[in-house]
Amino acid sequence: MCGIFGYIGPKKNAAQLVLNGLKKLEYRGYDSWGIALKVQGSRFKVQSPLLVEKHTGKIGEVHLSSTFYRLPSNFALGHTRWATHGGVTDVNAHPHLDCSGKIAIIHNGIIENYDVIKKRLIKLHHRFVSETDSEVAAHLIEEYYKKFSFLEAVRHAFNQFEGLNAIIAMNGVLNEFVAAKTGSPLVVGLGKNENFLASDAPALLSHTQQVHFLEDGEIVKVTPSKIELFDSKTGKRKMLKTQTLSWKIEEAEKGKYPHFMIKEIMEQPKVLQGITQNALSQIPDLAKIIKSAYGTYMIGCGTASYAALSGIYLFSRIAKRHVNFAVASEFGYALDFLTPKSLVIAFSQSGETIDIIESVGKAKNKGAKILAVVNVLGSTLYRMADYKILLGAGPEKCVLSTKTFTAKLAALVLLAQALNGDLGQGKKSLEKAAQEVENIFKPNSLLRIKKLANKIVNQQHIYIIGRGQSYPVALEAALKIKEVSYIHAEGFAAGELKHGVIALIEKGTPCLVFAPNDETYGAALSGAMEMKARGGFIIGVSFKPHEVFDYYIPVSDCSDASSIPNVVVAQLLGYYLCLKKGHDPDKPRNLAKSVTVK
Ligand code: BG6
Repeated sequence: MCGIFGYIGPKKNAAQLVLNGLKKLEYRGYDSWGIALKVQGSRFKVQSPLLVEKHTGKIGEVHLSSTFYRLPSNFALGHTRWATHGGVTDVNAHPHLDCSGKIAIIHNGIIENYDVIKKRLIKLHHRFVSETDSEVAAHLIEEYYKKFSFLEAVRHAFNQFEGLNAIIAMNGVLNEFVAAKTGSPLVVGLGKNENFLASDAPALLSHTQQVHFLEDGEIVKVTPSKIELFDSKTGKRKMLKTQTLSWKIEEAEKGKYPHFMIKEIMEQPKVLQGITQNALSQIPDLAKIIKSAYGTYMIGCGTASYAALSGIYLFSRIAKRHVNFAVASEFGYALDFLTPKSLVIAFSQSGETIDIIESVGKAKNKGAKILAVVNVLGSTLYRMADYKILLGAGPEKCVLSTKTFTAKLAALVLLAQALNGDLGQGKKSLEKAAQEVENIFKPNSLLRIKKLANKIVNQQHIYIIGRGQSYPVALEAALKIKEVSYIHAEGFAAGELKHGVIALIEKGTPCLVFAPNDETYGAALSGAMEMKARGGFIIGVSFKPHEVFDYYIPVSDCSDASSIPNVVVAQLLGYYLCLKKGHDPDKPRNLAKSVTVK
């Protein structure tokens, strides 16, 4: 959930390196941030070896001018926070120091038994300054450090914590990091006589391509020249498994775009073409695995759950195959029936969302096989899975998921057509969809969506309907609008309109209707007419105009892949509504890119 970046090495601008690293990770949490650094050189007489600077708010425009960043240092650790325990204050921001000021820690996750540990430490005269669960880590390590080496002190402390956590401890005297994790992601970056720690690989791209993704139950000691890996339970030494990152730096930058959101929206045609070319190789084998499964379950969280839901329509219509759908955060409470013949297809951009990691863990305990559809190589879900589809959409940094949603739909179309024995048709539909998305990006089409945003920006409520495979599109469209404009948008199955929601329609209420050229067209229009009869302002997203539409957005028919250009219209509408409201599309309030706490 939070962003973590650490540096140790010969360079004397560690504070600047860490600040830049945190800026690249802000999508992981941006309510407050902080950096601890070890000041070098005798000229700087400081009480404790570590200096800490913490602030509420976004790092965003923090400039490297202030003294703190000009202090010579070759050892620094930083954190951007998404608050769980304790309000958004400077004191609750990380890093946290122990009583001696020689140990600094940053934490990601929730220490579920922190209150018991805290009471024990207060009895041992430790002084706490924050309201966080995290601070207990600094003091518990300090307590064990009285008896053990720093590595062992962190290991013993970490093994006390209940819940899913990642901890990095910095020893300002020994000049070493010790980091450990269960659940929350941690990556070690291997440099020449310098090393890095981060919560997400893209932040390391400008420094190294060589990384080790920490597994659950691993603890690592990092100095400028050495990285030593151990098992956190037994303390036994382990081998590093380094991997080479495939992403390029510029892929993780905004380039010519003002926001990651619009950059990633505009990248979709290229991503779809890439999937159509690259994914073909493994799809037929995966189709065989799906065919041989005895019960297939598609799960995901947030936007990824709507991709999973789209799967049941695509597989039914194209492959005449029944698959089940569940929201991943609930699946864990309703999977007792799974067997070793079951297949769980888990959708996740980051591969780190804790609710899906936990459900997949429970499914694996039942012997079920896992097919992960993820965008991040080496992510926890990627490593847990028996079979993998790497979406290849490139880094997705905007908190809202856009290009990886359509990439998941593309993978589903190819899988369904492979099951149907007509992969060629799937490829054709995706090429058509990629072309139609290009058409939507044409100036007059963008202007049409912008004008619509101007028209409805002051509305309190927007209702969005769809039938069949347009139902998950309606849900995703509403989510995109909610996430960035903070307007209450509600998507629902058009058939449910008359069973309640229509009571909310009044004069001028914006009602967006997805009416693609499929078996749902007629019924979708009936829903539009019922809303219009109650005064609704009907926005039609369809392959042809219709008199019921007060505002029409043309999207050509792309047969199986029509959901892709349809949802791109909603992504753009969300973006323009957000700009019109003056919000930051890349860092919407209260959200974070991947949720690693329950
Ligand atoms: C939320 C993101 O935190 O997690 C959403 O803001 C995303 O955009 C959801 O859809 C699920 O994330 P993931 O990485 O599992 O697809």
